[in-house]
Amino acid sequence: MFDDVSGRYDLLNRFMSLGQDGAWREAMWRAVPGDAHLVLDLATGSGVSLPGLKRPGRTVLGIDVSFAMLEVAQDTYGGPGWAPRLACADGFALPLRGGALDAVTIAFGIRNFRPRVSALAEIRRVLRPGGTLVVLEATAPAPGPLQPFLAFYVRHVIPLLGHLSPDPSAYRYLSESIFEFGHGPQFEADMAEAGFVVAARKSFLLGATRLWVTRAGGEVGKKPTGSGGIVRNAARVSAAGPAGPARESASGADQRTWLGLQLVVSSALTVAITYAVVMWAKRHADISLTAFQQSAGWTILLAGLAIFAIRTIWLALRFLAARD
Ligand SMILES: C[S@@+](CC[C@H](N)C(=O)[O-])C[C@H]1O[C@@H](n2cnc3c(N)ncnc32)[C@H](O)[C@@H]1O
Repeated sequence: MFDDVSGRYDLLNRFMSLGQDGAWREAMWRAVPGDAHLVLDLATGSGVSLPGLKRPGRTVLGIDVSFAMLEVAQDTYGGPGWAPRLACADGFALPLRGGALDAVTIAFGIRNFRPRVSALAEIRRVLRPGGTLVVLEATAPAPGPLQPFLAFYVRHVIPLLGHLSPDPSAYRYLSESIFEFGHGPQFEADMAEAGFVVAARKSFLLGATRLWVTRAGGEVGKKPTGSGGIVRNAARVSAAGPAGPARESASGADQRTWLGLQLVVSSALTVAITYAVVMWAKRHADISLTAFQQSAGWTILLAGLAIFAIRTIWLALRFLAARD
């Protein structure tokens, strides 16, 4: 399934997270201790979480079971200079020694691992005692007054947006698996069973996504579960020899498209608010308003104009930088 959606995966991710997934990933990166030398991003997909893990002296591994997703990661981040190490392997049988890793991150991946406790036990095996596991995951709405609205978004809007993908059924699965995963209590019980202690938790966008920072406790097994034979390097084999400079990537193009769309919307809103300010300046004296209402009108319009003008300039700079 992930092989089929690999081409447009990043762009759709950005749409469905309302452009917020970048900020959530930053929180995940910050939760990884600065002195972690060997860090695995499990279920790395197209590798969007990999560059943020880069630190001096750190080796970053990306593992995923979908070879097509890893090819996107390789095209995007596998150029000369710094590059993550990518390997195609099953998260239930990681080709790594017990206790080898200082930290593991997994973004929007753990929901797909069933049975979950076995997957967490395998992550626990490859982490050193006291090592860090950071999980970012889309979660079902928690009970509360907003639950019906959020549930509507997950149940109906996500599958609808999935029609932009080559495989809409993947987005029906996304919706169903979010409800199956729940809003966190069952996952925390699974983590405790697998030997993890929750050190911090955070929720984003009214609980649509949650972050768990955990520490591995207890002993580690030493034997790798995976055998070397199942590991494939994700580099494309090219007749022209080793890969040259990083090629124009699907993810890079997606990022520019997304920035371009935001820029258009933000510019349109800036123009609209400017027009509103001009109209307000001409007409507000004709409307019977108290002094407080008049100054509130000015404050709202000018604050809106400042916010959207700054946002438009910021997006334009990012768009130009992405183009370069
Ligand atoms: C929703 S994507 C998330 C990709 C990426 N981490 C991100 O944040 O965009 C889930 C990924 O989990 C991978 N995955 C699912 N089951 C797996 C398994 N058993 N072992 C390794 N990766 C797996 C899929 O191939 C897919 O790339």
